[in-house]
Amino acid sequence: MEKEIILTGDRPTGPLHLGHLVGSLRTRVAMQNTGKYKPYIMIADLQALTDNADNPEKIRQNILEVTLDYLAVGLDPSVTTILVQSHIPALYQLPMYYSNLVTVSRLERNPTIKNEIKQRGFERNLPVGFMTYPISQAADITAFKAKYVPVGDDQLPMIEQTREIVSAFNRIYKCDILVEPEAVLPDSNSCNRLVGTDGGTKMSKSLGNCIYLKDDEKTVKQKVMSMFTDPEHINVSDPGHTENNPVFIYLDAFSSNEDFEEFLPEYHDLAEMKEHYEKGGLGDMKCKKFLNNVMQKYLAPIRKRREEYEKDKGYLLEILKKGTEQAVEVTGETLSQVRSAIGIDYFTDKDFIDRFVK
Ligand code: TRP
Repeated sequence: MEKEIILTGDRPTGPLHLGHLVGSLRTRVAMQNTGKYKPYIMIADLQALTDNADNPEKIRQNILEVTLDYLAVGLDPSVTTILVQSHIPALYQLPMYYSNLVTVSRLERNPTIKNEIKQRGFERNLPVGFMTYPISQAADITAFKAKYVPVGDDQLPMIEQTREIVSAFNRIYKCDILVEPEAVLPDSNSCNRLVGTDGGTKMSKSLGNCIYLKDDEKTVKQKVMSMFTDPEHINVSDPGHTENNPVFIYLDAFSSNEDFEEFLPEYHDLAEMKEHYEKGGLGDMKCKKFLNNVMQKYLAPIRKRREEYEKDKGYLLEILKKGTEQAVEVTGETLSQVRSAIGIDYFTDKDFIDRFVK
């Protein structure tokens, strides 16, 4: 049986951080390692250009950075095809067909777009390319016939819009060649949208509240030790809140019972530790030291793999080139099917030739 297909991707606008890791990278690696799927991962440089047209250098700088992050977390290029979006012709062509199936008002209602427009202060200066990137993202997903898209929940509106395009396409052109994708979300809320070290709603490069996968041991420690906690927890003896407290959100996302055994044996598990904090008598310093130990243990193998791969940048470029070539082929096949479903493959369509040429 053919394997079901996974596709997801990232904009190469900076190195990847813990938010990416728990939001999507961990799911990708876990799904890859089941051996049940054929995964494709896209470096979405075209999408990154939609709001960085004046700064392509930023994107250039991050193509190999993101590739390194992928390999560092355990994506295996012999199983997962890693590709560069801008070099895949079908991804430019499909949006031309899809854009006729989407209304302007539907795009304007896309919550992700709405939010991003607000964040960037675009208003009427909105680049057309940015406004329409959900259509391009629908092409990314459908070109590979992906069934599963591992993402954080901020991407749900994109998947929804893709499903609508698929269903409109298949209905209008009376075919079933496009596949309706499903999002694969992380299983805990803490992971869906990891808060920043400042307790801000989201870890985000532009907010300067990130821990990067490539951060060294000292940097991680310093970021953890200066993290926000519960502002009402002033003295050790005060009762504290664990909800909305970044330290506990990170512990939710990263700690295991073995970590307690190894670093903080006075508690059995996180539930017990939280209980103590909420009652009062557990200081922030102690919690942060534990979190630092947990994070260092978690990140050490990732850092080590990154260092290894970093030694051979030529190899990284080779991986991208090969992956991109594979993707050109797979997506080209979908493009032909799309054209033939619409009935515009004039030079090869026997029915067309019989009726209008002969
Ligand atoms: N929009 C995604 C992000 O901002 C990146 C992306 C581009 C993507 N194409 C995709 C994600 C296709 C999933 C599927 O991170």
